[in-house]
Amino acid sequence: MPTRDGKLGVGVSGVGWCASQHIAAFQRNPHTVVTALHGRDEARVRANLTKYGVSLTEVRVTTSYDDLLASPDVDIVSITTPNQFHADQAVRAAQAGKHLVLEKPTGLDAGELVRIRDAVRQAGVRTIVSFELRYHPYLQFATWLRTSGWLGEIRFARVQYLSRVTDWYSGWDWVRTREGGRSHLLAAGCHAVDALRWCSGREPERVSAFHTHFTAGYEWPTSIAVNLVLDNGALGHVTSSTDFMMPYAFPIELMGDRATLRHDLIQWLDTPVDPAGLADVNPIAAVRLEPATDSGGRPAIRIRTEMPGSADVSHHPFQAEMDELVACILEGRDTSIDVFEAQKTMEICLAADRSAALGGQPVSLPLIA
Ligand SMILES: NC(=O)c1ccc[n+]([C@@H]2O[C@H](COP(=O)([O-])OP(=O)(O)OC[C@H]3O[C@@H](n4cnc5c(N)ncnc54)[C@H](OP(=O)(O)O)[C@@H]3O)[C@@H](O)[C@H]2O)c1
Repeated sequence: MPTRDGKLGVGVSGVGWCASQHIAAFQRNPHTVVTALHGRDEARVRANLTKYGVSLTEVRVTTSYDDLLASPDVDIVSITTPNQFHADQAVRAAQAGKHLVLEKPTGLDAGELVRIRDAVRQAGVRTIVSFELRYHPYLQFATWLRTSGWLGEIRFARVQYLSRVTDWYSGWDWVRTREGGRSHLLAAGCHAVDALRWCSGREPERVSAFHTHFTAGYEWPTSIAVNLVLDNGALGHVTSSTDFMMPYAFPIELMGDRATLRHDLIQWLDTPVDPAGLADVNPIAAVRLEPATDSGGRPAIRIRTEMPGSADVSHHPFQAEMDELVACILEGRDTSIDVFEAQKTMEICLAADRSAALGGQPVSLPLIA
């Protein structure tokens, strides 16, 4: 299967801001070579490579997606086009027998999700979806803290995606439209929904949501607040907004019946958590733990690591995502965030948008049988 110098060939469709980081990650992976790029205009594709500091000398540029899919030196297709093209492109890539990286949102409605699921299932190709925050050390630590029992049974989980996106964004012209962006959860906050599922380890069974609209230029509501009933009877909450006058933030809270994680603090009431004991077993090398106090002087443990605090794609852990996909292709196994796993996150987003459109009426999950 490897196509050039024993390496897997990568073709990238939609060469903009996000693609620049996909390309850079594949360039650093020792088993891949980027062989082809697809965009609507060759000069613009090459100009974008320069703009985003990507050096790719031996790459073919095509304006035909069919061409990309017909290329024998393309084993993996990376789809980084505007959102309204993802489903069609993913289905066609799977039908052409290509493994794929699919940017979020995977599909913009239930029909698109089903078409992606069926095409990938039928083709048996490997897929990975860019919920790449799962590779972020802070989220990995939060998930480990919960799975290893330090928090106890989850009683409440909240994740917020707060990112002020206006015309500074390269994708502003398409993301602000109903056709291309569709909703704040689909365009952006799906990262928070995915983090809530992954960090809490619980699946929402019911959602109810309200949305509102403040930021000019968008064709869809710019804030949504989502309540979730989780499968252990606990509650969850997601706020997804572009309306707030503050720097990008992705705060995570996990309240267990033993201890609580609130952003960079771990706290407790009846059963103290020993900072040294926790530090001894913490498996995440990029995370340090320090005894601390909260603003009220009460004992806590402070998490020292880079928090998920930037919307800039060059700060996102795409490398680990692409490395996992490549390892899974070479070893013949499924990735941890394939289109089937990502579908669960997308269904929650669609259910929340549906609830908000119905004025907050609860919607049950899953949406797709
Ligand atoms: N996972 C993450 O953290 C993350 C972060 C940022 C973005 N994303 C996702 O990545 C995708 C792209 O976002 P972006 O920020 O990179 O936007 P962008 O900078 O606008 O890039 C999109 C590119 O797609 C190209 N394009 C537009 N229409 C096309 C078409 N019909 N066929 C082929 N190419 C087309 C555009 O190039 P031309 O105009 O030259 O054709 C543009 O350069 C979106 O789905 C977004 O949700 C994910």
